[in-house]
Amino acid sequence: MSSVSDTNAAAPPTLPTFTLQDRVVVITGGASGLGLVMGKGVVESGAHLAIVDINETQAVLQAGILAENFKEQYPTRPVPRVTAHRVDVSDQDSIAACVKDIVAVHGKVDHLVTSAGFTENYAAVDYPVDRMRRLWAVNVDGTYLFACEVARHLLARKAGGSMVFIGSMSGAIVNTPQLQTPYNASKAAVKHLASSLAVEWAKDGIRVNCISPGYMATALTEKILDERPDLKEHWVGGTPMARMGNPEDLKGPVTFLLSDASKYVTGAELRVDGGYTVV
Ligand SMILES: NC(=O)c1ccc[n+]([C@@H]2O[C@H](COP(=O)([O-])OP(=O)(O)OC[C@H]3O[C@@H](n4cnc5c(N)ncnc54)[C@H](O)[C@@H]3O)[C@@H](O)[C@H]2O)c1
Repeated sequence: MSSVSDTNAAAPPTLPTFTLQDRVVVITGGASGLGLVMGKGVVESGAHLAIVDINETQAVLQAGILAENFKEQYPTRPVPRVTAHRVDVSDQDSIAACVKDIVAVHGKVDHLVTSAGFTENYAAVDYPVDRMRRLWAVNVDGTYLFACEVARHLLARKAGGSMVFIGSMSGAIVNTPQLQTPYNASKAAVKHLASSLAVEWAKDGIRVNCISPGYMATALTEKILDERPDLKEHWVGGTPMARMGNPEDLKGPVTFLLSDASKYVTGAELRVDGGYTVV
């Protein structure tokens, strides 16, 4: 079966509503893994991009690489503005300073993708409480606080916008055999934050949706597989499509949910998991 290449510079026609032309997209956790590849996707869809991450060195490095690769891949297209900003998403002051910095450089923010997050595996009774609190602070507080800061900006501009929160299929199912109760619960919270904020901000033209990935090949899952290589067979065996996801598999879904192609979609969860959660 043929498929459309991601790198096809002379792309065939598509619906105009899928474009992110001249929009400013902020991606938390954008310096690596899913956030970084979604960043490439939105830039290819015409957006300017602010990569925000706690790892500033990596954010700066990846912003430069992303812009250079874009120029090589699309020599005739206008070069997008790709910038890097440090933030700790668990810290409200850090977020406020970061958004101010982004607006100073880009002039505005139209879209937010919250990909900053992490997981750890401990039996619940052994989970160090400081680690559990840190996980919630990044995965849950970080999503909520960043979304509210961007919403304040959009409300002040009286501008609509749209946001995508990166949840996980772990917000709907309990992964086995690895033990990660706080992570699972944090991702259920992220999904319900998206629905709740979608309702709260609907009248202001701000849409909020959630993408829940399955097992994707990134540093996050690599860390788990380094300790438990046997898990890969289990994960792939439980996935109807019989493979782990590639970060590239999120480029289309995130572009769809940010763009006007999904303008009547809000409060929704889109599972991108190769069918894992339907069996
Ligand atoms: N990889 C998967 O299989 C998978 C599956 C489902 C959901 N997810 C979710 O996708 C998101 C991205 O995961 P990934 O696999 O790309 O992981 P990753 O570790 O490759 O990337 C996470 C990024 O978040 C940044 N980050 C961490 N803490 C931060 C903080 N306090 N402030 C700002 N940035 C911070 C990291 O520096 C890193 O660049 C996470 O929320 C994760 O839970 C991943």
